[in-house]
Amino acid sequence: MNESVEDVKRVFEEKFKEKPHLYYSPGRINLIGEHIDYNDGFVMPAAIDKGIFFAIALNNSEKINCYSVDFDESISIPLSEVRKMDGWKNYVLGVVNEFQKLNLPISGFNCAFGGNIPIGGGLSSSAALEGGISFSLNELCNFRMNRKELALLGQRAEHNFPGVMCGIMDQYANMMSKKNTVMLLDTKNISNEYIPLNIEGYEIILINTKVHHSLAASEYNQRRKECEKGLEILKRGLNIQSFRDITNRDELLPFKEEMGDKIYKRCLYVVEEILRTKKAATLLKENDLTGFGKLMFQTHEGLKNLYEVSCKELDFLVDAAKENKDVIGARLMGGGFGGSTINIVKHEGVDSFLKKILPAYKKQFNIDAESYDVKVVAGTCEIDN
Ligand code: GLA
Repeated sequence: MNESVEDVKRVFEEKFKEKPHLYYSPGRINLIGEHIDYNDGFVMPAAIDKGIFFAIALNNSEKINCYSVDFDESISIPLSEVRKMDGWKNYVLGVVNEFQKLNLPISGFNCAFGGNIPIGGGLSSSAALEGGISFSLNELCNFRMNRKELALLGQRAEHNFPGVMCGIMDQYANMMSKKNTVMLLDTKNISNEYIPLNIEGYEIILINTKVHHSLAASEYNQRRKECEKGLEILKRGLNIQSFRDITNRDELLPFKEEMGDKIYKRCLYVVEEILRTKKAATLLKENDLTGFGKLMFQTHEGLKNLYEVSCKELDFLVDAAKENKDVIGARLMGGGFGGSTINIVKHEGVDSFLKKILPAYKKQFNIDAESYDVKVVAGTCEIDN
């Protein structure tokens, strides 16, 4: 999984004997605001320099020919037979299906794609795939949809084909990000503020546990349902529209019995995480990175104990990070049940941090974790050919 744009272009030209258009579609980080993008909360994502390159051209036929360089697998399927399939194919075809549902005159195309984003690493390779396909087809077929509309289309594709009832964070970050800024994304109004990422002297280090527990998708949908149930109960008793209208965790207490322990814990996490993310945005604007990092550790505790989406591998990495004085914040990132942790680490401490944590992880789980030093980049874009 380490293709450059030149590699992908070369593969395309060998396979299809023509010149492609080239695109880059990034994965994302999320600094804080986890599992609240489907709960009307605020989240803080940004696109990163780990992503997927696409070489693509319309082929004046009724056929989709698409090749994954990473998996060395292809599909060749008529537009009239677009249907659910497995793995990466679902994301490509899911996007085509959504264009078709809008009655847009989609044309057949040839495509090869590959990149440097780890699959199942919690960096949202799926949204990168959806974004690259939707953005390029939108341009090549001249559909004139804007970036926000494409993000929403990608989210529908994910709901309808792979069947993960995700929020809007990943697709939005993929389309709307700007270099060296993070977004404070309001997932109720689907709008964002850009906050400059002034982290001079620090690096954003991701550590991939290399595990992806199979529960992830079903548990994700389950969490969403639990939150919906909890909100119903709260709405009956309080004058609120959504979790964000609750400004104090004590407001939940009177509903604890009716909710039951599990739903109460989910709601408590959501209310706290929404408040935490708003506070984190203020701290970031004030350049208080230490305060920001403390909130990241708190988020991890909430995800572990209240929302229950962590796992022993992620907890191990966060506990080890906490012991290191150069790490000012760390937590699991993304859906959980495996994937990666995000760590904010003093520049001069990165090497010693990794030299300690990676072997310790190997010793504990007999797995070679991977680390990535990521930079924040702009959303999906065309690359000059
Ligand atoms: C996945 C989903 C997102 C978001 C995160 C958790 O990445 O795709 O919509 O819910 O999990 O914050």
